Amino acid sequence: MQIEIIKGSELPPEPIDFMNAQRIKEYGRNSKDFEKNENESIFFFLKENDLIKAFGMLKPVELIHKNKSYSVLGLGNVIAVEKGRGYGSKLMKEINNYLVKNKIPAFANTHKDNFEFYRKNGYKVEKSLLERIVEKSEKHKDYDWSEYSMIYFDPTHQLEELVNGEGDVIIDALF
Ligand SMILES: CC(C)(COP(=O)(O)OP(=O)(O)OC[C@H]1O[C@@H](n2cnc3c(N)ncnc32)[C@H](O)[C@@H]1OP(=O)(O)O)[C@@H](O)C(=O)NCCC(=O)NCCS
Repeated sequence: MQIEIIKGSELPPEPIDFMNAQRIKEYGRNSKDFEKNENESIFFFLKENDLIKAFGMLKPVELIHKNKSYSVLGLGNVIAVEKGRGYGSKLMKEINNYLVKNKIPAFANTHKDNFEFYRKNGYKVEKSLLERIVEKSEKHKDYDWSEYSMIYFDPTHQLEELVNGEGDVIIDALF
């Protein structure tokens, strides 16, 4: 197994095509534009015999809580090509190592089907946090989030005041 870490601005066309195809297979549609919108994101590809088995992405995101700004990495685009074979966990181990090494918390929104997977990989699932999130762009305002939760991985405890506090958390990216 190898891990490849590539900055969005340096992504070759092949992994972009691969991720687009996997997203369509998984979700029936692809809402992400990896060529245009993810130049600053960091992509992780878990490979076995040169074949991609799982991938994920960390995107720089700014959170604001009580006039204090927090730089975090939004975790997204996590897909294991074959499920239940440990590829997802191996990928998360690499992503978490990156976060520990760079002392940056990860933050994400996920569906309840994934809560256990993320818990097993060191993430806290904090449903009440979702109600406090205010997106700068209100595009998703009317979406039904009842089956979703915010999750976070905070090895250096930078987010404690924010997650344990009260009041709006403003985020500058869409989920
Ligand atoms: C979520 C996903 C990445 C997990 O990857 P995976 O390779 O299937 O997971 P693993 O085989 O590494 O499983 C790791 C552990 O999590 C558990 N797990 C995985 N998916 C789970 C689920 N849906 N519910 C409960 N437990 C789950 C496994 O049982 C395993 O537990 P164990 O270590 O005690 O045996 C994969 O199911 C996937 O691609 N899902 C579709 C895309 C998606 O929703 N991605 C998340 C976007 S936020």
